[in-house]
Amino acid sequence: MSARVLGKKNNTVASGNLTWQMVEGTSSLRGYILPFFEGNYVPRDDTTWQDFLCERGPVNTTAELSLMNIKNRTLFIADNLDILRGINSDCIDLIYLDPPFNSKKKYKAPIGSPAEGAEFKDIWTDEDIKAEWHGEIAEENQELYQVIQASEVIYDKSMKIYLMAMAVRLFEMKRILKPTGSIYLHCDATASHYLKLVMDSVFKKKNYQSEVIWGYRTQGVSKSSWPKKHDTLLHYGGGLKPTFHPQMQRIIYEKPFRHTKIDEKGRHYADVYVRDVWDDDPETKALISQSKERTGWPTQKPLALLERIIKASSNEGDIVLDPFCGCATACVAAEQLNRQWIGMDISPSAEDITKLRLEEIVDKESNLFSPFTDVIIQTEPPVRTDRVEQVPPHKQLPKAHTYKHEIYGQQEGKCVGCNYSIPFRNITIDHIVPISKGGTDQKENIQLLCNACNSTKGARSQSEFIAILKEQGVRTDATPRPEHRTPTE
Ligand SMILES: C[S@@+](CC[C@H](N)C(=O)[O-])C[C@H]1O[C@@H](n2cnc3c(N)ncnc32)[C@H](O)[C@@H]1O
Ligand SMILES: [Zn+2]
Repeated sequence: MSARVLGKKNNTVASGNLTWQMVEGTSSLRGYILPFFEGNYVPRDDTTWQDFLCERGPVNTTAELSLMNIKNRTLFIADNLDILRGINSDCIDLIYLDPPFNSKKKYKAPIGSPAEGAEFKDIWTDEDIKAEWHGEIAEENQELYQVIQASEVIYDKSMKIYLMAMAVRLFEMKRILKPTGSIYLHCDATASHYLKLVMDSVFKKKNYQSEVIWGYRTQGVSKSSWPKKHDTLLHYGGGLKPTFHPQMQRIIYEKPFRHTKIDEKGRHYADVYVRDVWDDDPETKALISQSKERTGWPTQKPLALLERIIKASSNEGDIVLDPFCGCATACVAAEQLNRQWIGMDISPSAEDITKLRLEEIVDKESNLFSPFTDVIIQTEPPVRTDRVEQVPPHKQLPKAHTYKHEIYGQQEGKCVGCNYSIPFRNITIDHIVPISKGGTDQKENIQLLCNACNSTKGARSQSEFIAILKEQGVRTDATPRPEHRTPTE
């Protein structure tokens, strides 16, 4: 890396045993580069950067923090997981995500609306996840994997699948969020309590900032219970104190109080800090069918809601990311507020509607940017430039291990002998037909066992092994087996 390190006095910060050096020409924390240190983890005895690095895990010693590899105004039309995995670490100032909510519904834009063609489903079945995500989540965060497993028992299987799909993406969001950044996860009561557990686990409880209740008064109310008219925004920071500008709002009162003033219409008012309940707030009102900004994109959010979030949790010039951007509400709000933005949506209809919406807000006079030529549309995942791609030979895993994550998923995190859940780090690889008896190293001949079962199995055949487990009462014919994998000899 060619960056010049500036003089010690005002361009270095000390944190525990480490000194962070600032790269010329940059400002804020983005500019700090890693000092040279050996080993994977920095000791956990400092509160700020060291903690943050520990959470990030192994760091490439030659990497520069926050070298952004995506251009402003890029809209990715693709599954966001692959895209997120291609973004450099610690680059994004603000992430707003409004993913599917596990509502068990399908959504479609009305025919004739500007968003015609847009559709997405919010129904979660086995086909929506990859088996290896089980292993990936369990390896990264065993407790989170257990929480997700429990959601199947408490709620239903769709919740487990939905949370797994969210977890693998949230891992990436955590990685790419700057330590001074914020993330807002927009959800509703279907999964908000489960997602809170996931967020506490991925972003850490200490980085929790607030739970905003966004209430609205749209049509269609239940009379059998309290009408469900609010969404929830879970707000977390990236590790350090997040950027935050408190917002004010004017409340009109019937009578004067100690702090009220009188406005030009003679009404008593007070300007107060916006609290965490935005209920039917005139500044964040939900869209109704006649709203001018309505595009027809299902579940479109109001620009004003995004404006409030962006104003509060970013500065001009900062990078705002919406990985489930739909008709690009967050991108349009970011553009209006002079922030940089990156959008992602799996639906190809997002391209035209984003350009159309941006066209409406662009100041033609200044002629600085034209949505139809300057928005970058990308369908391929970006390539990270902040890590060494080559894994050194001594760290490459034997062939069988590359199947570990996938088989762990097929076994749903359980030992196929005793059927108890096993932490990822405790699983052992067993050849169903032992190599000594002609077995192969192929995936189909590999199963994962807990330590106890593996020592019982030894070089025995699968049928001898099962017979012993039955003898020991560890397993009966009625023992439920993972749906996806019941290895036979
Ligand atoms: C709730 S909507 C977002 C609406 C958006 N906030 C707006 O104001 O228009 C969820 C969006 O996520 C998109 N989506 C679903 N799965 C996705 C995935 N794996 N990658 C990227 N986008 C996805 C859908 O196409 C849909 O537009
Ligand atoms: Zn076992």
